[in-house]
Amino acid sequence: MEKINNNIPKHVAIMMDGNGRWAKKRLMPRKIGHLEGSKRLESICESSYKLGIKYLTVYAFSTENWNRPNDEVNGIMNLFRKYLVDKKNKCIQNDMRVRIIGNRNGLDNDILQKIEDMEEATRKCNGLNLQLAVNYGGKDEIVRAVNKILLCKEHLNSITEAEFSSYLDTRDIPEPDLFIRTGGDKRLSNFLLWEMAYTEFYFSDILWPDFSEEELKKAVNEFSKRDRRFGQIKE
Ligand code: IPE
Ligand code: IPE
Ligand code: MG
Repeated sequence: MEKINNNIPKHVAIMMDGNGRWAKKRLMPRKIGHLEGSKRLESICESSYKLGIKYLTVYAFSTENWNRPNDEVNGIMNLFRKYLVDKKNKCIQNDMRVRIIGNRNGLDNDILQKIEDMEEATRKCNGLNLQLAVNYGGKDEIVRAVNKILLCKEHLNSITEAEFSSYLDTRDIPEPDLFIRTGGDKRLSNFLLWEMAYTEFYFSDILWPDFSEEELKKAVNEFSKRDRRFGQIKE
């Protein structure tokens, strides 16, 4: 694929929303929407890499999503399990490094083991960096960081922004340049609160299982035209 121009976002964060509505429109169970959504993620990873994006962070399950019916939560966790096991070799072949951000407390032990296996197996991969946000909440991430600081810096009386960032799940990852939310809603739903202080926002009405490479290109194209001033003025 031809690159759009030089102004490609280095890091794109996507809230993959609309799986449930996609299934409902087709009179299918919500679980099928999540299955289609997970397939879409695989193709969007490939498209992102082709476009020249280096980091892709996707919101797969929020700290608030536990409030859904058990059957749906279990369905999503099983998809996550399957992804971690079945896709490990494909990730390595595609040179894709996979990391999981979010609160590991609350995830089943077998999932924790599968996360470690996936992260270790892809640790040296150098292509796309994929961050899956699972049991992730922006407020939860910040509070976990504060608690880590309280534990290891007993006499601390001040901290810089850079030091604070180093306690976040995203410590080794640059801040997102572009945030995309599919599914039509225009809110942050507790995603990357600290990290998206200066991110460009793009909202799409397309439901996540329908979000194609063309749609990604549209978002990246719009990003490439945005004027990022970071508080400065332009003559
Ligand atoms: C996003 O799709 C996936 C998760 C939150 C796990 P939804 O399941 O929220 O789909 P809608 O928003 O109900 O259509
Ligand atoms: C946000 O979607 C979380 C994920 C996409 C995983 P939700 O569907 O849970 O968000 P709300 O409920 O519309 O805010
Ligand atoms: Mg939703």
